[in-house]
Amino acid sequence: MADAANDELIARWKDEEAPLLSLLHAFHDRDGFLSEDALRDISEQTRIPLAELYGTVTFYHHFARTAPGQSAPRVCTGPVCCLQGGTELLESLKGEGASAMACSGRCDQTVPVLKGHETWVGKNADSLERLPSPLPAPNPGGIEECVFANIRNSGRNTLDGYRATNGYEALTKAVQQMHPAEVIQLITDSKLAGRGGAGFPTGLKWKAVAEESRGPKTIVCNADEGEPGCFKDRAVMDYDPHAIIEGMAIAAYATGAPRGFIYLRYEYPETFELLDRAIAEAEKAGLIGDNILGSDFSFRLHLRRGGGAYICGEEGSLLNSLEGKRPYPRNRPPFPVTHGFEDLPTVVNNVETLATIAPILRKGAAWYQGLGEGDHAGTKLVSLSGDIQKPGNYEVPIGLPLQTLLHEWAGGPREGRTVQAVTMAGLSGGFLAGEDLNVTLDEPCIRSKGSFLGAAGIIVFDDTRDMVEMAHNAMDFFAHESCGKCFPCRIGTQRLTERLSGEAGPTNFEQWEAEAKDIGSAMKAASACGLGMAAPHVTESLLRHFPDAVVRDLNDRRHDAPGTA
Ligand SMILES: Cc1cc2nc3c(=O)[nH]c(=O)nc-3n(C[C@H](O)[C@H](O)[C@H](O)COP(=O)(O)O)c2cc1C
Ligand code: SF4
Repeated sequence: MADAANDELIARWKDEEAPLLSLLHAFHDRDGFLSEDALRDISEQTRIPLAELYGTVTFYHHFARTAPGQSAPRVCTGPVCCLQGGTELLESLKGEGASAMACSGRCDQTVPVLKGHETWVGKNADSLERLPSPLPAPNPGGIEECVFANIRNSGRNTLDGYRATNGYEALTKAVQQMHPAEVIQLITDSKLAGRGGAGFPTGLKWKAVAEESRGPKTIVCNADEGEPGCFKDRAVMDYDPHAIIEGMAIAAYATGAPRGFIYLRYEYPETFELLDRAIAEAEKAGLIGDNILGSDFSFRLHLRRGGGAYICGEEGSLLNSLEGKRPYPRNRPPFPVTHGFEDLPTVVNNVETLATIAPILRKGAAWYQGLGEGDHAGTKLVSLSGDIQKPGNYEVPIGLPLQTLLHEWAGGPREGRTVQAVTMAGLSGGFLAGEDLNVTLDEPCIRSKGSFLGAAGIIVFDDTRDMVEMAHNAMDFFAHESCGKCFPCRIGTQRLTERLSGEAGPTNFEQWEAEAKDIGSAMKAASACGLGMAAPHVTESLLRHFPDAVVRDLNDRRHDAPGTA
């Protein structure tokens, strides 16, 4: 027999688009956890079989099933926070029922602790405080910016603040003066490529969706930002949410999509409130919703919050999550442009990509291209963290030398220390070190070193860090986040983690190297998504740049082995 209060909550969401996540959050917020009764009632009324619903709910890290549930502290022990006291903070909060969480996207503000819908920050239990998300530092050298150009203006995250510097002029121009095909041509001419990691040309993606005859089409903003060391999208959402809404509305106009979703990661609760307010403001002003700016173009925008799982940033997994399914990545092809949300044509774009659209429409394709260095088009937001004096988000011209960013813009490493290595693409690009630190920040250059720029999270490690331990932390993250759909990734990430911790595997260097390479190549060849293909970059780059550290580590293990003292 269903409970009346449960019925009421379910009725609130049941007939909305993509209802399941919102329904689960409604119960999670009300009770602090998802009770047996709640799941039974949801299953009954949504007709999702109970076993399937359990599988979906338990996939996510943050949906609690018992009290104290979401009010208990969750402490970030990601690769930057664990260098800055995250593990010790977790221990000291164990009495309050604290548990560890994977990187929560505040590597510029360590150590974050989530309690309910609040983020607290501090290095020990007594110093925890609620701090606003840091604004990107002013750009050194006065280099022209695109996405961050107005982000530091006071009140920019309100509709009035956004409108004060050309906000929604691009949407007005598109709807009132341009044919959808002209908008797509302009974005294509700008050479804008996706900023979420894969770098697919945005104009081509939009064109593919525009040319599809099936509908309704959908625009999805990927705001999952789960890659450790990446926190640029959070800055845009917190300080310039209307730039994303305007970009999505233009994408909808260009492709003929009447609906859209922002899929936001669980770990940004304050950002959820800001986005929710911005969407309401835009709706009230007739900038989204029905008959936008008096035209016959309509676009309804919905905000959905994930449940905590890195893999939900992968577009197929994200779409399954939105649809209320267990969020495994989808097999490709077909791609979302033809078979996306509800198997219909869908644009999935990253936050930064969408925030770049309005400035391009206002200032032109040639202007955007010209922002890059040399032949490179445009700019890239880079999140810099770890052993660096000025961690934070920077907007760089594509092609800027990495050393300029590290030393001239971000103040270099701590006094008396040197930069030993950096990660690329968060953790997914593995490490760069030695001569390879002389790269420029563009895909061709970084790929020539066996890595990739991706979403441009860069974690810096100075010469005090044990690189085998850093590699172990990275692989442990991938093992934790592997969705388990395909065994080369599920088992490979575990086997590599054990080899990096010394828990298992050979202690002879040649055998260790051969095994790590063998496991890595099987993962690259047979994994179904980018997680399993990227994780081996960690061991490959460790072996390339730090073979002596691996040898030292293996020697220590031999000496520590029982019977060898
Ligand atoms: C494991 C994995 C995690 C990903 N996480 C994100 C993410 O958090 N945000 C994002 O925009 N793209 C992420 N991507 C890339 C998306 O699949 C997709 O390419 C992107 O959202 C497309 O937008 P864009 O063309 O604007 O870059 C991830 C990919 C993989 C394989
Ligand atoms: S590669 Fe890993 S994360 Fe991707 S689908 Fe396979 S098991 Fe899941």
